[in-house]
Amino acid sequence: MQYIRIRGGKPLEGEITISGGKNAVVAIIPAAILSQTPVMLENVPYIEDVFVLRDILVALGAKAEMPGHGRFYIDSTCMHNSRVPDELAVRMRASYYFCSALLARFGEGIVPMPGGCAIGTRPVDQTLKGLSALGAEVSSDFGQLHAKASRLKGAEIFLDCPSVGATINTLIAAVLAEGQTTIVNAGREPHIVDVASFLNSMGAQIKGAGTDVIRVYGVKALRGSSYTVIPDQIETGTMMIAAAATKGNVLVKDVIPTHMEALTAKLVEAGCQVDEYTDAIRVRMQARPKPVHVTTLPYPGFPTDLQQPMAALLSVATGTSIITETIFESRFKYLAELQRMGMRVNILDRVALIEGVPQLMPGRVLVTDLRAGAALVLAGLMAEGETLVGNTHYIDRGYENMEQKFNALGADIARISEV
Ligand code: EPU
Repeated sequence: MQYIRIRGGKPLEGEITISGGKNAVVAIIPAAILSQTPVMLENVPYIEDVFVLRDILVALGAKAEMPGHGRFYIDSTCMHNSRVPDELAVRMRASYYFCSALLARFGEGIVPMPGGCAIGTRPVDQTLKGLSALGAEVSSDFGQLHAKASRLKGAEIFLDCPSVGATINTLIAAVLAEGQTTIVNAGREPHIVDVASFLNSMGAQIKGAGTDVIRVYGVKALRGSSYTVIPDQIETGTMMIAAAATKGNVLVKDVIPTHMEALTAKLVEAGCQVDEYTDAIRVRMQARPKPVHVTTLPYPGFPTDLQQPMAALLSVATGTSIITETIFESRFKYLAELQRMGMRVNILDRVALIEGVPQLMPGRVLVTDLRAGAALVLAGLMAEGETLVGNTHYIDRGYENMEQKFNALGADIARISEV
């Protein structure tokens, strides 16, 4: 097994540049096949999920190239296949964006039930509801998502919850549908807005992305474009929390500060100094954090994807913090690993009571999902001594060059294959 070895206890100091947004790009790449002329994406993070999407595109008969410097070229002119291969679909959640994209492009999309992090049941009923309202025959039988329609027609869709995945799938299917589609109770996450901006750059007519009512005016065809992906909101947050957790001083660059407001507010409440600039945020911390209460919510609330790194920070708070996870029912599994490093925590269903300790101890821990990986690496950076973090493949799914970035801030992290 590969491990990340961390010799912790050093404050992070310096400047770091954030990569392009994972949860934006994993939807933008499938959406790119709506254009029959080539698309060039910029600021794409070269992470495992993106490599899987490239393999899916190639399996579907498209050309997909990654010529370096965060560029990703897609030419789907010769695409011929409507079925995403099983072994690729199960490797990530976002593979199901191909279902709506293939439906819009070819009238049929078949995607084996998507994989992704095991953090809850992760149903797909709202995606099925959206595609079905647009006139598709949909099913999720026999372990696959199947959507078929000779013609898609705009409709009014009320989502039961502001699901990121269902909002994006419905958007992708609606842009080439006939007439107007209205998505009510839509998700408002920055990555949803970025997918809409990308589709608009190709000629789509989407209004209201970023609010809870999105209107799509169907167009006949889309043309390729050159598009720059937004910075990763969760990598930004991870770096901000890491600066605070190591009592460091870090300028996090190439970010959109307004995307970080929920986290910034909690860091300030915990005693951090946070300075915002046009496209950068500086986080400084000198003492142990004060305890805070965090409740995860859809954007603009506190993101569930930062709940785990935040718990690492709060493990050394000067009192008891409460974290309430409202989005995913099984997103506390990693706390058992943090307990091995000295965290004091009681879990009552979706509520974690974290009683701060003066410091964490180094240890050998296993990552249970992507953001748990970030939390454990942060814990390793905080604890004085050597920590080994195993199951690193989860981290590679979503963080570009994590070790290099932390090392550039003065950490001592290395990837090792034997212990
Ligand atoms: N939900 C339903 N029915 C649906 C869809 C969702 O009930 O049809 C529920 C879910 O059970 C959950 C809530 O709605 O309770 C939110 O799910 P959502 O659909 O918004 O999440 P997702 O699209 O599966 C994306 C991100 C996650 C992130 C969540 C919440 C991608 C590829 N994944 O997942 O990111 O946690 O939104 O913001 O965009 C990660 O990056 O580590 C990650 C897990």
